[in-house]
Amino acid sequence: MRKYILLMCCLVVGCQNKKSTVVPITQKNNVATESQTQETKEITTSVERDKVKTPAVEKQVKSVASTNDSSDMIVNVPTTDEFKIIINKKHPFKNFKNAGVNKTAYAAYLKLKDAMIKEGLNIGHKLEGFRTYERQAYLYNYYVSKNGKKAADTYSARPGYSEHHTGLAFDLHHKDDSLVAIKGDNKESAWIAKNAYKYGFVVRYLKGKEKITGYVYEPWHIRFVGNDAKAITKSGLTLEEYYGVEGGDYHN
Ligand code: DAL
Ligand code: ZN
Repeated sequence: MRKYILLMCCLVVGCQNKKSTVVPITQKNNVATESQTQETKEITTSVERDKVKTPAVEKQVKSVASTNDSSDMIVNVPTTDEFKIIINKKHPFKNFKNAGVNKTAYAAYLKLKDAMIKEGLNIGHKLEGFRTYERQAYLYNYYVSKNGKKAADTYSARPGYSEHHTGLAFDLHHKDDSLVAIKGDNKESAWIAKNAYKYGFVVRYLKGKEKITGYVYEPWHIRFVGNDAKAITKSGLTLEEYYGVEGGDYHN
């Protein structure tokens, strides 16, 4: 099954023990964002991740599906194969054609963000969602130059291996544009861990699961999976564990 899928240029491997079938992403629902291929020219001197420049929101999302105004509306969409893609150090993203932010995921992200803001939480509007190969290369190389390859590999994906390529992942930021809870868990990260599933998201890189996900805990990085989000969150499992997909380190 796994070999078959890989031979078919799939992006993920199938699951033996869950009802779901993990299949390659189709990007018909993604919004192209060519502007992101323009590398950010200015390099910040800070080693903090959240200080790296991000394209403006308007440039990142050219158009999205109109969304319901009700900010506390629970997203209720089917979990499609498109939302089950797993990208990690063992499974790179390969289909960059027409890449862009996923419309359904983006609409859900807006609802989640608005709900947090309405609750008075410290959440800003900086958007870090879809990333091109070039942007990931820029970020990864920047971190390698600052902190070395070994350290960079613990928190930044090599180009081609980032979940941000799928258009289904988002990094939440505080009002000062810093990544949520980058200095340690706080009210905002607690809210996300408890409520993100209501909007179809899971916290992708969990504390204590570094050897499986391949990355340090990232309370700000949410990943859209659709209706499976509730079961996944309640299980406490990573996507790798829940869907039965190999995780861990790079092959080399
Ligand atoms: N920070 C995550 C792992 C990424 O670079 O995609
Ligand atoms: Zn992220």
